Amino acid sequence: MTHVADVRDSWSTRTGFILAAIGSAVGLGNMWRFSYVAAEGGGAAFVLLYLLFVAVIGIPLMASELVVGRMTQVSPVRALAKLGGRAWTPLGLLFVFCGLGILSYYSVIAGWTIRYAVDGFRGAIPSDAGDAGAYFNAVGTKLPAVGTHLIFMALTILIVLGGIKKGLERTAIILMPLLFLLLVGLAIWAVTLDGGGAGYAYYLKPQLGELLDPTIITSAAGQAFFSLSLGMGALMTYASYLRSKENLAREAATIALTDFGVAFVAGLFVFPIIFHFDLGGVIGLGDPIADNTVGTLFISIPPALGSLGTMGDLVVGAFFVMLFFAAITSAISLLEVVVTAVIDGWHWSRNKATLVFGILITLLGIPSAFNLNFLAFADKLIGNVLLMVGGLFTAILVGYRIRPQAEDEMAQGLTSPGARRAWVVLVRYVAPPVLILVLVFSIPDLITKFKTLIGI
Ligand code: TRP
Repeated sequence: MTHVADVRDSWSTRTGFILAAIGSAVGLGNMWRFSYVAAEGGGAAFVLLYLLFVAVIGIPLMASELVVGRMTQVSPVRALAKLGGRAWTPLGLLFVFCGLGILSYYSVIAGWTIRYAVDGFRGAIPSDAGDAGAYFNAVGTKLPAVGTHLIFMALTILIVLGGIKKGLERTAIILMPLLFLLLVGLAIWAVTLDGGGAGYAYYLKPQLGELLDPTIITSAAGQAFFSLSLGMGALMTYASYLRSKENLAREAATIALTDFGVAFVAGLFVFPIIFHFDLGGVIGLGDPIADNTVGTLFISIPPALGSLGTMGDLVVGAFFVMLFFAAITSAISLLEVVVTAVIDGWHWSRNKATLVFGILITLLGIPSAFNLNFLAFADKLIGNVLLMVGGLFTAILVGYRIRPQAEDEMAQGLTSPGARRAWVVLVRYVAPPVLILVLVFSIPDLITKFKTLIGI
């Protein structure tokens, strides 16, 4: 019998790994959710607070996931059991559950980006705001949504079938540079909009009062967590395919800061548009659309841009192509978490694991395509609360249960003892209490979403 480590795929270059990890982090969350919560949270003040969370909790936790992945070279489910003992298996299973669950609804939204990219280029999205809402309802739910969800899942499955080097790495190497180009191009184009200055001012001007609001603080933490793909072993999985002894703290900082940069630049595109077209109501809080994670992106912005004629159609098309790239490079990492667990745990072939679980996730996504309240509830429960539970236990495992081993692994690349000490302190004493607080604060929101779902 061949030893597992001999047949296990791996990244071919450091750049390939970094781009794939950035691809996982940069997703639908960066493009719209960041701008929205930034506006809600007081512009520049929120941005600074968000950066603080990224630095103090995001980077140390990401480094923890990378450490566990690289030191074990196996799927998260096995890695946790191997390091912590059998009692940690449920955490690994939670990761797999999050992968299945998030991908099922993420793919429905990603499917819309395919439809919007195609119709955007064709100028087929209605430019009247009311018609645009009807158009969204027509293409974004029921059978048309199931159709684009199927297409998106088929593409995700195809890439994951290719494995690490030929599937995930190659996709990231091609798509991520294109994504950066599109993003910068769109942000530069937005400079030409009249009245955009007020958008930049709103986005970048600190409104300090709102910073003291605890819900804003927790939303910054939640956003940092979701955006960095933390809490479900995605980066742990990616790092398990790493052979080199790179400095994992530096890798985590590169991934997290690039993710932040993309979200920030996306805001430089979204805000001038909102002000130029006077869409303020939609980010403005209290509007029902603003509560809906998809409103601004799919209902308000496309018709506004469409009203600019051919140039507007091109911008809408390019914008949704960019969102599609962002979504697919995240989706493959969600599926990879599940597939790796099945390959390592049940000794299935990659082909069988990818096909069986890819199809299962496709089926699980169908309720989200039919009912947006279901989608919103799944996102709150899994994409927010469960990820934080996962992150909390990851911090406990690395900070307490296996701290000496984790420190040794970290020392492979991070030679400064002071920096290692700082990392340990953040993982042990800062991340757990902050995550517990944020979890407590997010419960009322979860209950609200649940009530909406069951109709009370
Ligand atoms: N970070 C992704 C985004 O911003 C979403 C996400 C959350 C994710 N957790 C993940 C992606 C785990 C891949 C793996 O859209």
